[in-house]
Amino acid sequence: MRTCPWKCVVLLLAAFFTLSALIYGRYDLDFIYSDGRVIQQRLLTVTDSSLPLYKESGEATTAPPEDEQQVMPCSLRQTVQQDPLLQQRFNFSVPVLQWAGHSSVGEWQRLQLYPPPYGWKGLPWDVVNSTLALLSDPQSSSRLLEHVGPRPCVRCAVVGNGGILRGSGQGGAIDAHHYVFRVNGAVTKGFEEDVGTKTSFYGFTTNTMKNSLISYRAAGFLRVPQGQGIHYIFIPSDMRDYRMLAAAIRGAPVTSGEDRGDLPSTYFGQNPSVHQFKLLHPDFITYVKDRFLKSPLLRMMYGHLYMPSTGALMLMTALHTCDQVSAYGFITDNYKDFSDHYFDMVKKPLVFYANHDMQMESRLWEQLHTRKVLWLFKRPSEE
Ligand SMILES: *[C@@H]1O[C@H](CO)[C@@H](O)[C@H](O)[C@H]1NC(C)=O
Ligand SMILES: *[C@@H]1O[C@H](CO)[C@@H](O)[C@H](O)[C@H]1NC(C)=O
Repeated sequence: MRTCPWKCVVLLLAAFFTLSALIYGRYDLDFIYSDGRVIQQRLLTVTDSSLPLYKESGEATTAPPEDEQQVMPCSLRQTVQQDPLLQQRFNFSVPVLQWAGHSSVGEWQRLQLYPPPYGWKGLPWDVVNSTLALLSDPQSSSRLLEHVGPRPCVRCAVVGNGGILRGSGQGGAIDAHHYVFRVNGAVTKGFEEDVGTKTSFYGFTTNTMKNSLISYRAAGFLRVPQGQGIHYIFIPSDMRDYRMLAAAIRGAPVTSGEDRGDLPSTYFGQNPSVHQFKLLHPDFITYVKDRFLKSPLLRMMYGHLYMPSTGALMLMTALHTCDQVSAYGFITDNYKDFSDHYFDMVKKPLVFYANHDMQMESRLWEQLHTRKVLWLFKRPSEE
């Protein structure tokens, strides 16, 4: 009898899980599997639908971050400069944002060699150029923080959506930072005590934003954070992001592609200012991947789908923008004791997919925490 070679097994499983993913309401890219381990973990999630209700827990057992941050040096850049290992990794000269200043024939020739999010391959020049042309103010388009002149130690909190935050009581500590970054399904209503209310930056791809609005609606994520003080950080993972961004700045519906007809005001509110829109630079995403998150997944079957997670890109963005960074709701080594998200009504295990390497991200946050480049919120496991 002819046996199924491993490639065929993987394809069959991929087809099975794609179906399951659709049935179980996963609309994102996160359904591709690279190896047995990943498939195994997904299998657990699919079959394990009757886990007990998520247990409400008491206060966080760790000290509030203010205590530790007093001993954290201000300016993580100094910390990096004093550590030869960190110096090899960090390069604060890589541009974080792309804007009109990057629109040139030379840049086009260089960046059209790499597919998004690492470059502009496959994107029509007029889409890239006309989008970047809208980001024309060097003051606001090329920089995240528009503050000029001498500044105090700028403290930023980056809030991931991890279940570790549920029952953590960290809302006040998070809101006490100068700037708060949030991502994707960042529900705050009903979770103020644990995650705070302030949002300065909201990071996403058009795909993850729209998926979050569908998948986490029941959890209360009814709209993207809106208001004058909120800035939107687009991750350019696809042509959709350039088109959505251009439409949002113009205040007009998206005219072509998958999101054709979408009204940007649905997502970003009425009459947002151009200053509220930021676009990550492909070079920055490439740098984050090559220097910090060069995952073995890149060499696997679905390696072309791999990229750092939205949370990882926002945390790295904060590290290249702020003087002090605290990370809340990011994966820790005891992640298995917490639900996938803080807003899950029923405890769901965190699932690993081939398009992100959460284990590698977890090790990176731990290392940066140990070396005092950032402060990572951790909690002991319950019981
Ligand atoms: C840092 O990044 C800049 C801008 O991309 C580049 O010109 C420079 O060579 C990089 N330096 C190092 C040491 O990698
Ligand atoms: C890029 O777009 C700007 C603004 O629309 C236009 O003036 C310029 O000619 C375009 N550049 C190229 C090389 O197409």
